Amino acid sequence: MEDTKIFDHHELRRTLRSVSSGLDHLLSAAPTTSISAMAAIRAIERLEYTLAAHFRYEEAERGFFAEVMSAAPERVSDLDKLRSEHPALSSQLQRLAEIARRPDLSVSDWCSLAADFEAFVRALQSHEHAEDALVADAMVTDEGGSG
Ligand SMILES: [Fe+2]
Ligand SMILES: [Fe+2]
Repeated sequence: MEDTKIFDHHELRRTLRSVSSGLDHLLSAAPTTSISAMAAIRAIERLEYTLAAHFRYEEAERGFFAEVMSAAPERVSDLDKLRSEHPALSSQLQRLAEIARRPDLSVSDWCSLAADFEAFVRALQSHEHAEDALVADAMVTDEGGSG
């Protein structure tokens, strides 16, 4: 039962990627009509919701971090560092959502928002890759029975 949690992480990340790429595509067209702006706002809000659920799952008492911690307790400082990145990533996305909801955005504002969104995706991907590396290490340690 516990083993499935590590693999659930891939499923959650797939959702994140699909929302991210849809939003990226939408924003790259610089939505200037209220309908396309609304679609961009909804996509960002959906990503906020997905990301919050993802972080809750990782931080849960028997969630992803607890799972990795039990397999590789020596990596506690790496886990703490990753956990501490969650609030900053959430705030970054929240800020983008707040900007997107402003009623009077120009084309250049949307382009700037798209650039900021790309920076957010890079930061999130780097965070996720670090988690992947940690899982790979934890599984090797677990299976190898080293220690
Ligand atoms: Fe995370
Ligand atoms: Fe994650």
